[in-house]
Amino acid sequence: MKSQKHVVHVVGARPNFMKAAPLLLALRGFPGVRQSLVHTGQHYDALMSDVFFRQLEIPAPDANLNVGSGTHTQQTAAIMTGFEKFVGQDRPSIVVVFGDVNSTVAAAMVAAKEGIPVAHVEAGLRSFDRSMPEEINRLLTDQLSDLLFTPSADADENLAREGISSDKVHLVGNVMIDTLVRMLPLAQKATIPDLPERFILGTFHRAANVDDAGWLESLLKMLADLSHEIAVLFPVHPRTRQRLSAFTDVLAAPNLRLMDPLPYLEFLSLQSRAAVVLTDSGGIQEETTYLGVPCITVRDNTERPITVTMGTNHLAGRDILKVKAVLDDLLKTPQSPKQVPPLWDGRAAERIAKILARD
Ligand code: UD1
Repeated sequence: MKSQKHVVHVVGARPNFMKAAPLLLALRGFPGVRQSLVHTGQHYDALMSDVFFRQLEIPAPDANLNVGSGTHTQQTAAIMTGFEKFVGQDRPSIVVVFGDVNSTVAAAMVAAKEGIPVAHVEAGLRSFDRSMPEEINRLLTDQLSDLLFTPSADADENLAREGISSDKVHLVGNVMIDTLVRMLPLAQKATIPDLPERFILGTFHRAANVDDAGWLESLLKMLADLSHEIAVLFPVHPRTRQRLSAFTDVLAAPNLRLMDPLPYLEFLSLQSRAAVVLTDSGGIQEETTYLGVPCITVRDNTERPITVTMGTNHLAGRDILKVKAVLDDLLKTPQSPKQVPPLWDGRAAERIAKILARD
């Protein structure tokens, strides 16, 4: 009898969970596949991890490496040491990694050195900005991968330019949108107490936005000013929260509502109802594009250009005047309907599962 293929998925940080969920589900339909899930523990707070497992019905991990926080080197090294031990005990046929976080590249490096094939879900995205830790993670993970699953055609072009053989690359669409499609009906029923009729939703956690105190202060002042015209909801990532104590005066604006990080359904519900979303997240650029909600990205670049060319995303740069000008325009002028990129249809994980399960 043929032995089962052992597929090991590695997740670690919040944006991994909604990408892994649909693939875990899709692979259940293949009797030739046995799945294991490893959580690195990069994100460990209940609101950054556990609640996503519950809402997205992700099975409990088979192993938790409990690495926690640290410098990039400490975190990456701890994941590598822990994951090497895991693969030594129950050798995978293939290791699947997601997105661009430290857990992604760390697990890919271990698998590649052990001679285990690597599959990268969300391959090929490039910001062309190597000052972003995520860009380093993307470049290295893609070089190490044997199967590269891309969300859009621009990603395929990036990989071809880097000399990656097209045989390894599969344009499958966007797994994050799979989860959105599945969860949207539930999100629309989610109740959020005291929700204003019209509001802006803001999220900032990138090092480039929150580690520079001067720039963070200008961003917070902008949100506080804005809250005199329209309510501003601001769920705060733990990395950002650590830096807010210096700005209590700015944050005292009555219509600026700071919140704990929100569970998936509640956050999706807010995104779908927001007048405009202000963010530095990658996933939120994609989700707002699917939802047709205007988004302003407060970064100088994006690894997801299709959200600008086809979707509702506006790249404003780290420039307060530009952000305000774009925002003014979006709040005043009704927006023309936007397109959803090809294959962002809720079935990307099914396409990946078929390829992974085949001999
Ligand atoms: C990581 C990813 C980033 C992703 C983000 C989503 C990398 C390089 N970055 O950034 O691409 O957009 O996740 O959230 O992998 N902390 C807690 N509780 C937690 C997790 C973190 O308090 O559960 C605090 C810690 O003090 C930690 C800091 O947040 O030092 C940053 O966490 P870390 O995992 O290093 O990176 P993120 O900023 O979350």
